Amino acid sequence: MTEKLLELAGIGLSFGGIRALDAVDLNLEEGELLAIIGPNGAGKTSLFNIISGVYAPSEGQVSFRGRDITRADSRRRAELGLARTFQNLELFPLLNVVENILVGRHRHLRSGVLAGGVWFGKARGEEIRHRARVEEIIEFLEIEPYRSDAVDTLPYGIRKRVELGRALAMDPTVLLLDEPVAGMNNEETEDIARLILDIKEEFGIAQLLVEHDMGVVMDLADRITVLDYGRVIATGTPDEISHDQAVIGAYLGREGAEK
Ligand SMILES: Nc1ncnc2c1ncn2[C@@H]1O[C@H](COP(=O)(O)OP(=O)(O)OP(=O)(O)O)[C@@H](O)[C@H]1O
Ligand SMILES: [Mg+2]
Repeated sequence: MTEKLLELAGIGLSFGGIRALDAVDLNLEEGELLAIIGPNGAGKTSLFNIISGVYAPSEGQVSFRGRDITRADSRRRAELGLARTFQNLELFPLLNVVENILVGRHRHLRSGVLAGGVWFGKARGEEIRHRARVEEIIEFLEIEPYRSDAVDTLPYGIRKRVELGRALAMDPTVLLLDEPVAGMNNEETEDIARLILDIKEEFGIAQLLVEHDMGVVMDLADRITVLDYGRVIATGTPDEISHDQAVIGAYLGREGAEK
């Protein structure tokens, strides 16, 4: 299928005098894994914020399956199937794993409190289905042993999986992953990389991946878009990108700024 799932055209974003994004074009196809890379401050997180509706762009248009969503709020985008994880963990530290992932089911809770009172049976059926889906996700992420533990007692690598679980619980069409392996050791990194690949291959969910770990990016991405100072300097396959002179220049030129 070649339908453009997500398309950004001419996106610009300014913070006062800082031009965080400038004339950015990008498209993501159904089931595709597109990595967005670039030196620190290149605009990667800003781009995610534009896609998920945290920021409105100063210029340009965001479309989802041909529909203009530039002005749609975050809630509407989540309903359409855009789910994200955050660069800094934003889980509820005192809630357990099941409860944190259940939060991701929020967009599916149709009955609500009032309807729950009137149609008790229906609301109860819904609740059971949501819990069943959460259990499937916990199994997929291999975090059963932690299911009843408060999130703030868990090792970092496991917390990152719970965050992934919460995004998966939204049954997303597009998953936005901002630095999913940041701060992880080699083993944790390999585990998450395998899960990201499984999400693509088993569930067919398209993913946008921002990541500094080049090994992970080169292994997982179908295509890579490179940002530098808010502009797209290259888009191509991992092989094309690794031989691109502009990309090599951008990274070598700012090597000292890298994490
Ligand atoms: N809320 C904000 N207010 C002012 N400037 C901002 C804001 N958010 C981002 N910027 C600036 O916009 C530019 C792009 O930042 P952004 O966080 O998108 O970069 P990034 O590619 O995600 O970097 P990193 O790899 O360090 O996460 C930077 O110059 C940054 O300082
Ligand atoms: Mg960032």
